[in-house]
Amino acid sequence: MPDSQSQGSAWRTNLCELKPLRNFGTAEDESPFQVASTKEKGFIVKIGIIGSGNMGGCLGKLWSRAGHHVMFSFTLDPKALDEAAASAGGRVGTVIDAAQFGDVVLVAVPWTAIDIALKDAAPALAGKVVISCNNPLKADLSGLLLGTETSGAEEVARRLSTAKVVEALFPFAQQLQSGTWQATKQRPTQFYCGDDADAKRVVATLIDELGFDPVDAGPLTSARFLEPLGMLMVQLAYRQGMGVNIGMQLAHL
Ligand SMILES: NC(=O)c1ccc[n+]([C@@H]2O[C@H](COP(=O)([O-])OP(=O)(O)OC[C@H]3O[C@@H](n4cnc5c(N)ncnc54)[C@H](OP(=O)(O)O)[C@@H]3O)[C@@H](O)[C@H]2O)c1
Repeated sequence: MPDSQSQGSAWRTNLCELKPLRNFGTAEDESPFQVASTKEKGFIVKIGIIGSGNMGGCLGKLWSRAGHHVMFSFTLDPKALDEAAASAGGRVGTVIDAAQFGDVVLVAVPWTAIDIALKDAAPALAGKVVISCNNPLKADLSGLLLGTETSGAEEVARRLSTAKVVEALFPFAQQLQSGTWQATKQRPTQFYCGDDADAKRVVATLIDELGFDPVDAGPLTSARFLEPLGMLMVQLAYRQGMGVNIGMQLAHL
């Protein structure tokens, strides 16, 4: 895991650089989340969120609580964007604002919206760490739209050829919202994959802060395996009736 020495200054946020967009203060309200703060270790990043629904809203809130600076963008409902930012202690902007703001940018949109979400942001994402949590699910959740010879994450990387794309699919949003895994004191495995080692170290730290065990699954092409694994979780939760409070743990035997 990265520490303050190995991160380098690129990942430190200079508070003076924060843009004076709409700002909703800090997320100090009561919540079930117990997110490890890494402020003391000097790991504070600016996180732009493209797609502020279930996943983007929740992850933004959790990372804000960990001490990072978050900007939300991309919604059909500006009021919902304001609510997400108010609840998380973040700020709001356009997709381009969020792409420019973030040292790290989370893309969390339905697969059908991936082109419109990335079209304007692409130039501003050059050289940045982009976390893709997009699983290209069929609308009826019966399977994946892509696979075996490519993946959602690789398609995101193809659209953002100069960004450092890392895939991390994360657990169900309802689980993130409820903090269930923390109550059980377990650390479910969270796989991630990508082609840039520094970008992966940053993402691993952000995963670790949430209380999950980050496991490097290799290059971005491993998304071809991780996305079906995400689909398996959907199958178990919704079709096998296990519900959303499930997770995986990689066993070293
Ligand atoms: N939900 C989960 O448990 C989960 C778990 C793992 C991975 N994922 C993946 O994460 C991604 C996001 O899922 P989600 O559940 O967070 O979706 P969601 O709640 O529908 O959020 C998507 C966000 O994108 C915005 N959006 C969609 N189409 C848009 C458009 N044409 N123009 C502007 N904004 C638009 C939505 O705005 P509005 O709110 O205004 O519609 C919303 O802010 C998906 O690819 C999914 O496969 C989800």
